[in-house]
Amino acid sequence: MSAKKILVLNGPNLNLLGKREPAVYGRQTLEDICALITARAKERGLQCDFYQSNSEGALIDKIHTVLDGYDGCVFNAGAYTHYSYALRDAIASVEKPFIEVHMSNVHKREEFRRHSVLSPVCAGVIAGFGADSYLLALDALQGILDKQERQI
Ligand code: DQA
Repeated sequence: MSAKKILVLNGPNLNLLGKREPAVYGRQTLEDICALITARAKERGLQCDFYQSNSEGALIDKIHTVLDGYDGCVFNAGAYTHYSYALRDAIASVEKPFIEVHMSNVHKREEFRRHSVLSPVCAGVIAGFGADSYLLALDALQGILDKQERQI
């Protein structure tokens, strides 16, 4: 059986992790976090690709590649989470499981962060565990993919 392929997608301002609001997001860089995810994926027999963009259109184009290129996606859409109907439609179009990820506990912060337009088209949401949010999302996605396989 070939390794499941997962896209780990990061949206705006997440390239600045490590420098950006460290009290909220910690000191690890996106590169550090990708290395942790790669190690976890290796343990789990998954293959991960990584992509980050600050632009909505580039994220949409990358989401479209999930249709034929990936089994699922771990996605931190940053602030687009709260208002991008275009990203929401892109996720709904590809019909593969997406896990919405946030490093911070968005429910503990400003009011506008409490609403996600992406959650209704994602398989689930993980928020509030810092870099571990991505690792938990990877585990959750693997659980979904394993279940799908047992049903085939
Ligand atoms: C975030 C939360 C968003 O509200 C914010 O705009 C981000 C990061 C998180 O990972 O906690 O850019 O998605």
